[in-house]
Amino acid sequence: MHPEAEFRPLNKEFLNRNADQCFDLYLKTVQEGEAKFVRFAGKAAEHQAKVRQLLEKGELQQELYFHQNDRDLYFAQASKKLQKWATNEKVPINRKAKKIYSVSKELMQEFFDYNASDSVLGVADEVLEIMEGVVSQSDQGFASVAEHLVRDYHVYTHSVNVAMYCISYGTQMKMDKKDIRTLGLGGMFHDLGLSKIPQEIIYKKGSLDEEEMGNVQGHPKIGVEILEGMRRYGMPVMQIVEQHHEDCNGSGYPHGSNKTDISLLSRICKVADVYDSMVSPRKYRKAMTPMEALSMMTQNLRDTFDLEIIRNFIVMLGPTVRKG
Ligand SMILES: [Fe+2]
Repeated sequence: MHPEAEFRPLNKEFLNRNADQCFDLYLKTVQEGEAKFVRFAGKAAEHQAKVRQLLEKGELQQELYFHQNDRDLYFAQASKKLQKWATNEKVPINRKAKKIYSVSKELMQEFFDYNASDSVLGVADEVLEIMEGVVSQSDQGFASVAEHLVRDYHVYTHSVNVAMYCISYGTQMKMDKKDIRTLGLGGMFHDLGLSKIPQEIIYKKGSLDEEEMGNVQGHPKIGVEILEGMRRYGMPVMQIVEQHHEDCNGSGYPHGSNKTDISLLSRICKVADVYDSMVSPRKYRKAMTPMEALSMMTQNLRDTFDLEIIRNFIVMLGPTVRKG
């Protein structure tokens, strides 16, 4: 494997200042035009003391990397640090939201772009719990997290955005905690099945041919298979993954179910999914403004949605609709 594919840049915010790191740190060098990664600090005590000192003095300027074999350890440490920040009242809410977004994004990117095993998704549970806590603490509601959403249309940023919308929606509607958790997980995992579809198809510039379309339309079922393999999440989460492309008028896929057969949580996820896709740029079109997206959803596509959910969703977006 090419060394570039084995190492990931790490976020230094997730390094421990007061304790040892759980994984080795690497530096990247370029020798004769080739990237090489050299170990900067191992887990040995003397190395760890050096890292802590440099972190304290703010002298750790270079980009650092971790090896992919250590990814579960890296994410576990990141999640622990996140937990600490989330419960620290001195950290402003939007800094908390920014950090949560960053860990979630790295986590989902690891899964989609590097074919990470699903063990990495186990951390998503912890991160979503922290996300719920932060969203529910905020009196600004969705506005506190909105500014951090990255709109670049990558499947991993889209997944985190949808999870954020779902959690904010559930919180605003005062749904019970269990449903908010299910919605967050469903939002984060709704497109997991796309990880098995070639990226050339997912990010294709032009329209898809019949075979490619068939391929893409298989992703809700593939997503359910991935979750079944994990044996960690229950039926309601899998239902969101399976039903997020069903339409209330029966024109969706994979089953062509009608509104009464589509769970409430799946209908919510669908609104978040379509809205985020529309306000993000694609290779073949510019991003729509929030107003354009919402009017498309409530007029041209009105039969496919649960309109009451769209109404609540608009209230949740609040002033962010005008800001775009
Ligand atoms: Fe999807």
